[in-house]
Amino acid sequence: MVVVKDAVPADANGMSIVLTEVLLSWASKRPGSPEHVLEHYIQHPDGIRCSVAFDENNKVIGFQSLKMATAGNQFDLPIGWGIIGTYVSLDAGRRGIGRALFAASLAGAKAAGLSNIDATIGETNNLGLGYYEAMGFRTYQTKPGAVCKQLVLSEIPN
Ligand SMILES: CC(C)(COP(=O)(O)OP(=O)(O)OC[C@H]1O[C@@H](n2cnc3c(N)ncnc32)[C@H](O)[C@@H]1OP(=O)(O)O)[C@@H](O)C(=O)NCCC(=O)NCCS
Repeated sequence: MVVVKDAVPADANGMSIVLTEVLLSWASKRPGSPEHVLEHYIQHPDGIRCSVAFDENNKVIGFQSLKMATAGNQFDLPIGWGIIGTYVSLDAGRRGIGRALFAASLAGAKAAGLSNIDATIGETNNLGLGYYEAMGFRTYQTKPGAVCKQLVLSEIPN
């Protein structure tokens, strides 16, 4: 069972645990602290929707962030595109959590009037590549070490 809700500051610790676990598996030095999660995801000024998935014990098992690309954004995207990121607990994969999170983000994207969403994924991240492809994203460009996938909202059936 998975329940998806909008992220609130009290979710920062649980989200940090999920994020830190994924970053460790990538041997990434990116920050994953609760403070970072709060600032970068839950309370980011460009945030459109940040959704959190809970299991039957009310434990955070994943989250997905949807932000608006603004001037000088980190991925050099056109202003107004959506930027999406997803983290699901490594021991909770392939149970539909990513799919449930995306339903919430897609609703948020439509409500915000987005036309396009970018997902920039590590080129060796087969999980991430397969997931976004399954959600309807298609590759539109590559960068050193990364694949950029685009979702065109007008191509999504209502
Ligand atoms: C990528 C990720 C978000 C997928 O989350 P998930 O909860 O496992 O996804 P779901 O169970 O909802 O799967 C949705 C679809 O994605 C695809 N998919 C998911 N895991 C897959 C896998 N291991 N192999 C192939 N396809 C996969 C499938 O098409 C799946 O649909 P199906 O199960 O009906 O065939 C999750 O594995 C994760 O957080 N990985 C680490 C972080 C990451 O890579 N994030 C993305 C880039 S930032």
